[in-house]
Amino acid sequence: MKGWAWGVALLVAGCGPTPAAEYGEELFSDPKLSQSQYNTFSCATCHATTATPPADKLYTGLSLHGVASRPHWWGGYETNLLDAVSFCYTAFMRGTAPLAPEDPRSRALYEYLASLGPDASTPAQPFTLVKDIDDVPRGGSARGADVYRAACQECHGAAHTGKGRLTPLAPVLPEVSQEYGELFPGVSPGVVFIEKVRHGRFFGVGGNMPPYSQEALSDQDLGALLAFLGL
Ligand code: HEC
Ligand code: HEC
Repeated sequence: MKGWAWGVALLVAGCGPTPAAEYGEELFSDPKLSQSQYNTFSCATCHATTATPPADKLYTGLSLHGVASRPHWWGGYETNLLDAVSFCYTAFMRGTAPLAPEDPRSRALYEYLASLGPDASTPAQPFTLVKDIDDVPRGGSARGADVYRAACQECHGAAHTGKGRLTPLAPVLPEVSQEYGELFPGVSPGVVFIEKVRHGRFFGVGGNMPPYSQEALSDQDLGALLAFLGL
């Protein structure tokens, strides 16, 4: 798997967009990359592709600008780019099997990703998962409203109503937390909520929400978000 698309990439380097890179760009923003009827996420739901990500969005994934020339991915957990992509594909997009190296879609995605940064090498990006969940100090709710819009609204829709949400599988926030007292007796609902945001689907209850690393969402912004949601 190590040689995934490297040969192809070398051939096309410097020749502008290729048909494969254009197909890859389409796949990048197409939820139908995954065959699951329950999937509504595309790569573009969670990743920016520009060197400076847009100021009005807080993506859970890193920007993929220069991604193909990073030495490793997922904070060092993945040393093969296709595996790093497949992890997202199976964990978040309900793909039933990892993307195969010989799949034309894998090659197209690779060429698109390789076109996102022309540099020969890009440093690995930090990715710090919060392991132990602690409560965080509450911040200002005006900032929290901005954080909600930038980070959560696309998937969960408007606070309190869910209006415009990307999928009915994403529950209405913060109302879903009203069940937490009964489900997790002895733990404050705010802490259960933080656990979900920090661990995503990798929480006891599963699902397919992505986790927010420290780089993706600071404790300060998380505290503001909780204040906005009244948790
Ligand atoms: C539901 C959200 C979500 C979706 C959909 C998603 N990803 Fe990710 N992805 C993440 C998160 C979270 C990480 C871990 C943080 C990081 O490294 O960006 C990640 C990590 C990565 C990484 C490693 C980046 C690095 O330098 O560490 C790559 C590459 C990647 N994703 C590519 C893709 C591609 C291509 C797709 C579409 C096939 C995709 N992702 C779909 C959330 C998502
Ligand atoms: C890429 C889409 C996506 C984004 C972005 C996202 N969520 Fe979610 N979230 C989901 C989905 C889908 C579920 C239901 C499946 C699951 O639990 O993983 C969910 C579940 C949850 C739950 C758990 C509900 C329960 O069952 O108890 C909480 C809490 C939550 N999200 C909070 C947030 C907050 C806060 C943000 C923003 C910081 C956010 N989510 C961003 C998709 C998303």
